[in-house]
Amino acid sequence: MPHTINIQRRRLLKFAGLTAAMATVYPFLSYAQGMIGMGNQAASDFEPDVEIELTQEVVDIPIFRGPETRVWKVFGKVLKGPETAIVNHAESYIAPTIQLQKGQRVRIILKNNLPAQSILHWHGMHVPSKMDGNPMYAINQGQTFVYEFKVLNRAGFYWYHAHTHSVTAKQVYSGLAGLFIVSDEEERALDLPRGEYDVALAIQDRTFDDQNQLYYNSHMMQRMQGFLGNQIVVNGQPDYVLPVASRAYRLRLLNGSNSRIYKLAWDDGTPMTVIGVDGGLLERPERRAYVMLAPGERREIWVDFSGKKVGSEMTLRSLSFEASMHGGMMGGMRGGMMGGMRGGMMGGRGMMMSGSDLPLGSDYAVLKVKVSRQAQAQDKLPEYLTTIKPLRLQDAANADTPRNILLSMRHMSALLNGRSYEMDDIRADEIIPVNTLQVIAFDNGFSGGMGMGMGMGGMMAMPHPMHIHGEQFQVLKREIDPRFKPAYESVEAGFVDSGWKDTVLVMPGEKVTILKPFNDYKGVFMYHCHNLEHEDMGMMRDFLVK
Ligand code: C2O
Ligand code: CU
Repeated sequence: MPHTINIQRRRLLKFAGLTAAMATVYPFLSYAQGMIGMGNQAASDFEPDVEIELTQEVVDIPIFRGPETRVWKVFGKVLKGPETAIVNHAESYIAPTIQLQKGQRVRIILKNNLPAQSILHWHGMHVPSKMDGNPMYAINQGQTFVYEFKVLNRAGFYWYHAHTHSVTAKQVYSGLAGLFIVSDEEERALDLPRGEYDVALAIQDRTFDDQNQLYYNSHMMQRMQGFLGNQIVVNGQPDYVLPVASRAYRLRLLNGSNSRIYKLAWDDGTPMTVIGVDGGLLERPERRAYVMLAPGERREIWVDFSGKKVGSEMTLRSLSFEASMHGGMMGGMRGGMMGGMRGGMMGGRGMMMSGSDLPLGSDYAVLKVKVSRQAQAQDKLPEYLTTIKPLRLQDAANADTPRNILLSMRHMSALLNGRSYEMDDIRADEIIPVNTLQVIAFDNGFSGGMGMGMGMGGMMAMPHPMHIHGEQFQVLKREIDPRFKPAYESVEAGFVDSGWKDTVLVMPGEKVTILKPFNDYKGVFMYHCHNLEHEDMGMMRDFLVK
């Protein structure tokens, strides 16, 4: 078991990893630390099709009546290329939406006018290591980082956010996150709702104090669970109502929350018709009674309001589910585990821990849709959307030796294979040969670790949305420890695992195996839990692709 490796052996592994990997790739062992505050200049040989400037500022915006709310806001400007490349949202803290086409060469000039170090990461995009927004590239106030890359991704609903060492959660919470939409010819040829009928919605939770200021608490209990706000905001607005015409819509849903997991369903029993996930359209639409959406994940939903009267409403709710085990994580394990899980979660426990009156796994409204006008449209959902070539286990370079990543959470620590995040710390098992397909298993206490740890080390069973930078992956299989089955049954019908993914929710007692290509680019690419408090606690590591 990786976490039982003794210290000496760990040092050896570290040494082997560093000499083999770092010495040849980077001349200095402290390469990453040396990059902070260096910024990056435009390359003279890069001819962009689209050039964008993003400026990060501290501003006050009117979210409520009364005092304005101080936020960290990104302002966007198109310097070259189509004006549609940037859509600013003046009325909200949400960062501008970036809209690009596959194949475009883009230059993004990031200017940091915040009183803090910061860097932006393009979540889900397949870009060179240096353009990926690794925390090592954080820039200081007044500095500039120029990103240049070609859009290789297929059409899809990606996003971007701050990725600054140990303060990602706070910075995203303060406003440093936006949507990143890629389109391509194949998608444009489909008869899907477009223009104003294609709506992107970032779902987040926030807590505002009585002066309308964002409240963020990062004491240890809060960080263990992850921040939970007491109010849902959509595109930065509380009590969000989407006015629609009586016709079909394409709704793109992002969970941009720090830690909150949603179990989304229409309140009138209309099934959730999923047409896309993190990395773009599915092969065919899939209908679910509800859809799980973990931090970092996206779902695209097709929904038809035709035949509905003007004035009628539909609510998108998050339904109740059993999420995690707190407090009584140890003792009750032997024999009484189920009782412990149920008891630990359903009651006011989450509330006590988070200070939230909107506990994780409770039932609440997320947004409302209001039919505001009639429309004449004959909308038909295409039965077939795109071709998704399934990745095959036998094509993986490590088909017989999956890279196991053990997720563990103990008091004060959130670890991957027993390790916490450190810059310039690549171990032998984190080195990946470029242009290979890899099988990777995220093990959240499935392989016995939890049962043992529970009794002894005080391990906490929590869901972890696991994200890997770079290319999109495919989910190969899910396995659940039967002792966790009752809680699992409250969420499992809501997983959509058939398309291209960059983030996958791994429930307590579960092991999720994925197939991920590491093509084209060498260098450092992160993998981490997208519960941003967990990430900041160190539940994050680098792969070195070489
Ligand atoms: Cu959306 Cu490394 O993150
Ligand atoms: Cu986590």
